[in-house]
Amino acid sequence: LSTIRVDVSGISEGTQLTVKWLGKPVFIRLRTPEEIEAAQAVEMSELVDTDARNANLPAGSPATDPNRGMLPPGAEPGTDSPWLVMMGVCTHLGCVPIGNAGDFALDSGQGGWFCPCHGSHYDTAGRIRRGPAPQNLPVPPAEFLDESTILLG
Ligand code: FES
Repeated sequence: LSTIRVDVSGISEGTQLTVKWLGKPVFIRLRTPEEIEAAQAVEMSELVDTDARNANLPAGSPATDPNRGMLPPGAEPGTDSPWLVMMGVCTHLGCVPIGNAGDFALDSGQGGWFCPCHGSHYDTAGRIRRGPAPQNLPVPPAEFLDESTILLG
């Protein structure tokens, strides 16, 4: 089956769950207000890849923070969400980035992901900011079925 249901009720703020989908890791993170703020503070002109890479949006949507996050049930479209769902596969050569890479001091230095293979840095919205990776971490097809369940695929 190409779809899976994920119980996200055990994820607390500032932590993430990694699940396997189609044989690849998917990161599901409940971001802190500081992580969201750090992502919002980034100008589009600072981004390496300005495409949201979000399978749930029209192709070519801009890589703003709201376009990267996943809205919980009942949330206003276009608003920022603490939830981030994305493939845990570096867009350089496919290693698994490490979360909570808090000390790499991108902007406010709040979290993000670091790829140990060749040093790519992704910010708190999973957007590529430094290193050889060419694209943002892709957001797979996903939606909330209810407050504690995400359907992937
Ligand atoms: Fe991630 Fe090369 S595979 S930086």
